[in-house]
Amino acid sequence: MSKPPALLSIENLAIATVQDPRTLINEVTFEIHEGEAVGVVGESGSGKTLTALSVLGLLPRGVEVIKGAIKYKGIDLNTLPPQEMRKLRGSEISMVYQDPMTALNPVMKLGKQLLEVIESHEEVTSESDERVRAALREVGIPDVGRAMESYPHEFSGGMRQRVMIAMALILSPKLLIADEPTTALDVTIQQQILSLVAEERRKRNMSMLWITHDLGVVANLVDRLIVMYAGRIVESGTVKEIFTNPQHPYTYGLLASLPTTADKERKRLTSIAGVPQKPWLVGQSCSFAPRCFKVQLECKKSVPQLVGTLEKSVACFHPVGGQ
Ligand SMILES: Nc1ncnc2c1ncn2[C@@H]1O[C@H](COP(=O)(O)OP(=O)(O)O)[C@@H](O)[C@H]1O
Ligand SMILES: [Mg+2]
Repeated sequence: MSKPPALLSIENLAIATVQDPRTLINEVTFEIHEGEAVGVVGESGSGKTLTALSVLGLLPRGVEVIKGAIKYKGIDLNTLPPQEMRKLRGSEISMVYQDPMTALNPVMKLGKQLLEVIESHEEVTSESDERVRAALREVGIPDVGRAMESYPHEFSGGMRQRVMIAMALILSPKLLIADEPTTALDVTIQQQILSLVAEERRKRNMSMLWITHDLGVVANLVDRLIVMYAGRIVESGTVKEIFTNPQHPYTYGLLASLPTTADKERKRLTSIAGVPQKPWLVGQSCSFAPRCFKVQLECKKSVPQLVGTLEKSVACFHPVGGQ
């Protein structure tokens, strides 16, 4: 049986700094299918945000894609003219950021900001105003009339995230990328925002890429998981496979450091000793080797490739449970 075509397909992606070239992301390959939610986990600096930004063609100045393809519905976004990319952003692929102020303009009323999103893609009509109101109601903004006339600073962090979600969804994208949108919020608000996004995804049958450094946060929200370490994918698979049968020693360590119900009140019991290597300094070895409890000689001599299936892939010479 042939595989159904992916909505988003990232193939052998490498991202590097332009000056004094440093590779930040290397050999990243994964797919998101129609209606599917995929989680990307990894500690800070592992390359999650750059991977997401590359999909939207929004890499920071001085950082660029040096290899590979980013295909959306079969079209390589790397080769798309800027005006075509702008059309796609918001209407096909949208992103919610960790800091809502990345997306919101501090000196413009919220109603006008949402209207501008519509205006940037379509003719504004007499119904556009009502569309903005509906979008704000949809994400649980209480007094929509007042919200339209407010500036972002007049809202709490949680409410600002809701507005940013409304903005990301107003043109009904097929793929939503969420880059740790709840990290800065307290636990109760975090849960509300996660539920809101999950509910919108379900209603719209939207595909999603959920980015987080916290495996516990995404476990219930996604179909498949991708584990990143030092700019590479070290393991990927269904949530069930990752949780019940982690193969990469790093994934194993991540799971071991998740707080269990019993120690929820306490801090993490276990954590992986050491810090990640900088991807551009790794050279011909496994980047996790210095921290790995399964390390052997060959791990320091060549880079393990990601091998396996959609259901489960791992990049490791000596996986957990093996030799
Ligand atoms: N604008 C930039 N210029 C140079 N290096 C960057 C830039 N942005 C991120 N990096 C580097 O790229 C790597 C990946 O960063 P990032 O994708 O933000 O990680 P994550 O989102 O997983 O925390 C890190 O080593 C980071 O320091
Ligand atoms: Mg990040």
